Amino acid sequence: MGELKDLDTLVALAKRRGLVFPSSEIYGGINSCWDYGPLGVELKRNVKEAWWQATIRAHDNVVGADTSIIMHPDVWRASGHVDNFTDPLVDCKQCKQRFRADQIPGDRCPNCGGELTKPRQFNLMFKTFMGPVEDAAAQVYLRPETAQGIFVDYKTIQAAARLRIPFGIGQIGKSFRNEVSPGNFIFRSREFEQMEMEFFVSEKDDDYWFQTWVEERFQWYIRLGVRPERLRKRPHGQEELAHYAKACIDVEYLFPFGWHEVEGIAHRGRFDLTQHQEHSGKDLSYFDDQTGEHYIPIVIEASAGVDRALLTFLADAYDEEEDQGETRVVLRLHPQLAPVKVAVFPLQKKPALVEKAQALRKDLARRYNVAYDEAGSIGRRYRRQDEVGTPYCITVDFQSLEDQAVTVRDRDTTRQDRVSMEQVPQYLEEKMRTYQRYRP
Ligand code: GAP
Repeated sequence: MGELKDLDTLVALAKRRGLVFPSSEIYGGINSCWDYGPLGVELKRNVKEAWWQATIRAHDNVVGADTSIIMHPDVWRASGHVDNFTDPLVDCKQCKQRFRADQIPGDRCPNCGGELTKPRQFNLMFKTFMGPVEDAAAQVYLRPETAQGIFVDYKTIQAAARLRIPFGIGQIGKSFRNEVSPGNFIFRSREFEQMEMEFFVSEKDDDYWFQTWVEERFQWYIRLGVRPERLRKRPHGQEELAHYAKACIDVEYLFPFGWHEVEGIAHRGRFDLTQHQEHSGKDLSYFDDQTGEHYIPIVIEASAGVDRALLTFLADAYDEEEDQGETRVVLRLHPQLAPVKVAVFPLQKKPALVEKAQALRKDLARRYNVAYDEAGSIGRRYRRQDEVGTPYCITVDFQSLEDQAVTVRDRDTTRQDRVSMEQVPQYLEEKMRTYQRYRP
């Protein structure tokens, strides 16, 4: 009973209910690629929408973009990814298993105790070819981070949107990394989505903006219902900083497999813009029309994984409780994230009830993703919705035909309210607006 104890429970639920499951399963699957089903795609859209709203729309000095996955290969030489975006790889001479040297204790194989090869650097970028000729001149990369698209476009966007420092540019999109050891479900995969925002500042207030974005991003998870005691901020030690970063603070979550990074907020200094200015030969300085100064801005970055945030919300929401001798599984997802906001049930499959329930479903579907279910007992139908985190279930019963009212049942408390049908939209709006994370 209680919270999520092992990841397998969540993986099984995600597959059973069509949230997330392995890609290409009929061919035996492909390691670390995942597909999102009908409920998963709704949840994912809600995560991205919540990020877009909080990080871009809520700020009058932050704008959005959507840059291409394949970029000029020189981008990755300038950014340092061709030379530095590597993991140290070791092979076991005995069992032939492969490991990341920095992720294993000691110098023997963690699988069979065999001798390991010397570490060699393995670049994580996926390579492919552009056009019909497969030679070195046509080689391109799938981006390993969305950030570089923002850096190379920053002057075009700044001029078009008439932005003045401090300002930010954010985007959401796929990134690809040929990870040596993917795993823990969607936590580390080779194809994933990122939500990144690059904030351009001057040296007068770079530390202020770094701290501000750390706090802002940390609070985002809490506002969306994650229990604060399972979140922490962890500053990187000098030795673990990425090649571009002057400082970095990770937002970490206590998963069933330990504390791990969900998002990184980094002080990237002038590294990226200076590199791109040198390699492209284009002037990437910002002109301050008030002081008459030209300078390369400092970049503060907030970089989150969509899939990893989604895993955090799912893991944190998972709860089990005893209910009349059975186990009730409930995802206590924030209504803003819940894939289905409201489910509508006719008490029985009688034409008059079905007709009324369908009319209500149609009306609510103009605002929300609504489920309709007429199969099985009401108890069974509640269970099906609890398991995927639907915050409200509405039952149309025989009394409804007389009094034009319905029963609205709350997922967390299981309390039921009788609400007049015409008041249902306002009732739901108010409940969602005032939602607080439920603590049994
Ligand atoms: N632009 C900076 C950057 O990409 P990162 O720490 O390498 O920094 C940022 O990645 C975020 O992207 C991580 O906090 C994580 O949420 C997500 N991420 C990175 N690699 C991932 C992977 N292999 N699978 C899923 N998410 C990943």
